[in-house]
Amino acid sequence: MALRLGDEAPDFTANSTQGEISFHAWKGDSWAILFSHPKDFTPVCTTELGYTAKLADRFAAKNTKVLAVSVDSVDDHNAWVGDIEETQGVAMNYPIIGDTSREIAELYDMIHPNELETLTVRSVFVISPDHKVKLTLTYPASTGRNFDEIERVLDSLQLTASRPVATPVNWTPGDDVIVSPGLSDEAATEEFGSFVTHKPYLRTTTL
Ligand code: BEZ
Repeated sequence: MALRLGDEAPDFTANSTQGEISFHAWKGDSWAILFSHPKDFTPVCTTELGYTAKLADRFAAKNTKVLAVSVDSVDDHNAWVGDIEETQGVAMNYPIIGDTSREIAELYDMIHPNELETLTVRSVFVISPDHKVKLTLTYPASTGRNFDEIERVLDSLQLTASRPVATPVNWTPGDDVIVSPGLSDEAATEEFGSFVTHKPYLRTTTL
């Protein structure tokens, strides 16, 4: 069955471009973004993996590790990395797993045969420090993902994990947030000092 939000992210051990990785041990108490791509030496994937390398420092500053995976071999990944670096103008700085056995693809339900018979689709899992799945995304082969949006969701996940708030439509860091509906007005005053009541169920505040 497909992984659902709140499920434990399955552990695995696999070879990568940065050596053998035991996922939970490698991740430690960081957040992680595990994402699959269909195939090495393909155009959309080349842009996605390069762009993610450009974001890696920002993810690291947010206590978040990035890990890519496809069913290609580590030798293929290593040969492809030079193309990514050359065409995207970035040094690859995170591991790419070679899942030739498809163990990870199966654990995370990354192969959708009606889209691509034997290759992983564009899956994304954001995983919290306690190894729980907090976000799942699935994109088709022909559509590159928006990794700025994945960073935005990470920001929301980290904020809402630490404060009694939710983030509204199109929220970005610094915007007003929604006071958790479960919080009484008294508790909200204690937590935030002040807030605006638009409707009894819609209260916002500035952090
Ligand atoms: C691509 O990355 O461009 C791609 C990969 C597999 C199928 C279609 C497109």
